Amino acid sequence: MASTDFPKLTNDLILQAALGEKTSHVPVWVMRQAGRYLPEFRNLRQHHSFFDICRTPELACEATLMPIRRFDLDAAIIFSDILVIPQALGIDVKMVESVGPVLEALKSPAEVKSRVKADSDIDQELDYVYKAITLTRHSLQGKVPLIGFAGAPFTLMAYMVEGQGSKTLSKVKKWLYQNPVESHQLLDILTGAVITFLTSQVRAGAQMLQVFDSNAGFLGPTQFDEFSLPYLIKIGNGVRENLRKEGLSEVPMTVFAKDAHYALEKLSDRQHTGYDVVSLDWTIEAEVARAKAAGRVTLQGNLDPCALYSNQDDLDYLVEQMVTQFGTHRFIANLGHGIYPDMTPESVNTFVNAVHKHSRRLNGHKNSV
Ligand code: CP3
Repeated sequence: MASTDFPKLTNDLILQAALGEKTSHVPVWVMRQAGRYLPEFRNLRQHHSFFDICRTPELACEATLMPIRRFDLDAAIIFSDILVIPQALGIDVKMVESVGPVLEALKSPAEVKSRVKADSDIDQELDYVYKAITLTRHSLQGKVPLIGFAGAPFTLMAYMVEGQGSKTLSKVKKWLYQNPVESHQLLDILTGAVITFLTSQVRAGAQMLQVFDSNAGFLGPTQFDEFSLPYLIKIGNGVRENLRKEGLSEVPMTVFAKDAHYALEKLSDRQHTGYDVVSLDWTIEAEVARAKAAGRVTLQGNLDPCALYSNQDDLDYLVEQMVTQFGTHRFIANLGHGIYPDMTPESVNTFVNAVHKHSRRLNGHKNSV
């Protein structure tokens, strides 16, 4: 299927908001919106393993569309995982029931040279993601934009060294303190792979990109400045440069450095980083984030995912507060992190509709003044 001649986009609200344009209402999507809280996704998972879904374009497309069919969302995000990059570099990853991802961890810094395939052909290894994106972009029929994504180098390195999720990340942080040279070598390899991967996602049809640095909060400001920020900046600028060179249109880019409040000023420097949108976790007040961003980027977030356990009236009120506090301009509503499997589709519906309802009302008030 050709990656050109895509259907015309009818709802580009999220792209407008990302670029700082005024919109009639606030766009909204949900991290992990295609996941196990949906009965139809659980049903799909009974028949296929997680990575089979990722690797089969028709199944990845089907999972991506599930939440779009149910809710009035303003974006789709391609069904995949950040760990497809370590896989493409030769590290085995399994999804283990009630554990999560388990990787064949790097046991020593010497293994960066011996086990990480730095010369791996990322585009060939991850061609299944591009095929899924092209198919999904067609199947969306222009309803909403399709977001592509990748893990940030430090977050990927953390999984490659820890082998699975960790409460402390002490193994990978030990590398940063004891083996900074090999750490930078690994981060460099990952950065190159991410730049290639994101560029090709746009070529295949992704209309917006998000980089997930979900483990950023484990770093303090000094280590973030050395081991994460420079690589995030290389990605933001590197992808843009690639797109320009190829004559492809640039797309809005979002960075999500979870729990890295200390870096918010630096991450909000659009000219320097290349990111139009900064995604926030729920532990920062809108007012504080707005002050640090200083009008330079659009903010995304940041309702506590656990607010979805509230009753529907309380949830509606919490959304109203969030939209009122962030304001309706330069804002994309989302949760502060991914939705959990035991949450209800009903609560997602309430969340999405409340964002639209309250932001429309707030805009109406403004216009009538
Ligand atoms: O948002 C979406 O709907 C798109 C798909 C998506 C998935 N993972 C699907 C998924 C996205 C954007 C991701 C990103 C991802 N994956 C991140 C960054 C965002 C974040 O949550 O911080 C991370 C750290 C991963 C790694 C990962 N993959 C973990 C930690 C887990 C286990 C989570 C769990 O609850 O067990 C996964 C598995 C995963 N990725 C699932 C889904 C739907 C559930 C696996 C299953 O179906 O069995």
